[in-house]
Amino acid sequence: MTYARIAGTGSYLPENVVTNHDLEKTMDTSDEWIRERTGIKRRHIAADDETTSSMGLEAARRAMEMAGVGADDIDLIVVGTATPDKIFPATACIIQRQLGVKGSPAFDVSAACSGFVYGLDLANRYIQTGGARTAVVIGSETLSRIVDWSDRGTAILFGDGAGAVVLQAADEPGILSSHIHADGQYETLLHVEQGVSVGFDVTKAGGAFVKMEGNAVFRRAVATFDLMARETVADLDGHLDDIDWFIPHQANMRIIKAAAKKLEMPMERVIATVDEHANTSGASIPLALDQVVRSGKVKRGDVLLFAAFGGGFTWGTAMVKF
Ligand code: ACO
Repeated sequence: MTYARIAGTGSYLPENVVTNHDLEKTMDTSDEWIRERTGIKRRHIAADDETTSSMGLEAARRAMEMAGVGADDIDLIVVGTATPDKIFPATACIIQRQLGVKGSPAFDVSAACSGFVYGLDLANRYIQTGGARTAVVIGSETLSRIVDWSDRGTAILFGDGAGAVVLQAADEPGILSSHIHADGQYETLLHVEQGVSVGFDVTKAGGAFVKMEGNAVFRRAVATFDLMARETVADLDGHLDDIDWFIPHQANMRIIKAAAKKLEMPMERVIATVDEHANTSGASIPLALDQVVRSGKVKRGDVLLFAAFGGGFTWGTAMVKF
C-alpha cells in the first residue's frame, strides 16, 4: 500500500500589513469591534505586483526546499484558490512554468476556503493510486482584489497570503484520513455574484466583490464543524486524544473556538493565526501549518487535524501524521 506524507511546508505573506487601526481611518469601524467579533488584529495585503501565482510560487519553492525536492521530482501541482490570476490558464499552470516543472498535470480547485483541503484530498488519492509520487499542493489568495473596501461588514475579515505542502509517496501514512463535502443550496449566503458566464461588469451595483450574510454563514459554519467533528470521531474510534494539534480554517476566532468546543479540544492544542493574518481563505490552513512547523511547535510524528469550511458551501477535513 502506498501512502502520502507531508515532506515539506512553505508559506508567503505580503510585506504590507494593514492593522485594524489603519481601517479605522477609512471606514466606520473600530479595533475593539473587530477584535471582539473576529479576533483579527491585522492582515497582510498584496502589493500591486503581487499575485496569487507569485505568492503561491514562493510558498511552493519554500516547501520544495524543506522537502529537498527539485522541479524534476514534481509530478502533480494543485492550487486551491478563489482568486486565480486569470480566468484561464489555471494558476497552477502559471506556477508550473515558473517552477520549471515539465509535463505534470497542473490544475486549480475552486472550493473557496476549503480549496487547500480539497487539493490535499485529491493529491493524496493520486499518490495512493500511483498517479503521482511527489505533488505540490498550494493554497494562495489575493482576496483584497475581491473585497469591497467600502463595506465594513466584509472588508475587515480578509487578508492575502499563500501556503504550500509537498506530498510524497511513502510506505507509512502520512495522510491518515480525509473527507470533502459540499452543499450547493447555500450558494447565495457567501459568493461573488459576477463571473464569466453570468456576466462580468465591475461597474454594476455591488461590483465583483465578496457578498456575505455574516450571521447565517456563522451559524452554518458552526453547525458544519459539528458534522466534521463527528466524522473525525468516527475515524478515530472516539480517541480524540490522538490529535496533537487542531489546525482549522482561520475564518474568525469565534468560529474557531466553537469548532474546538465541538471537538472537545482544549484551546492549547488549537492553532490560531487569524489574529495576524485574518481570513486568507484557501491559504489559511497551509499558511498556519508552515508557521507552526517552522517555529518548532509542530514536530515530526505529531497528529494534525485540518478542518475547512467555505463558500459553496464546501467543507473538508484531513487527519495527518506529520
Ligand atoms: N465595525 C463596526 N460595526 C460593524 C461592523 C464593523 N466592521 N460590521 C458590522 N457592524 C455593525 C452592524 O452594522 C450592526 O449594527 P446595528 O446593530 O446597528 O445594525 C452590528 O455591528 C452587529 O452586526 P452583525 O452583523 O450582527 O454582527 P456579528 O456579531 O454577526 O458579526 C461578523 C459580524 C463578524 C461578520 C459575523 O457575522 C461573522 O463572523 N460571520 C462569519 C463570517 C465569516 O467568517 N466569513 C468568512 C467567510 S466564510 C468562512 O471563511 C468560513
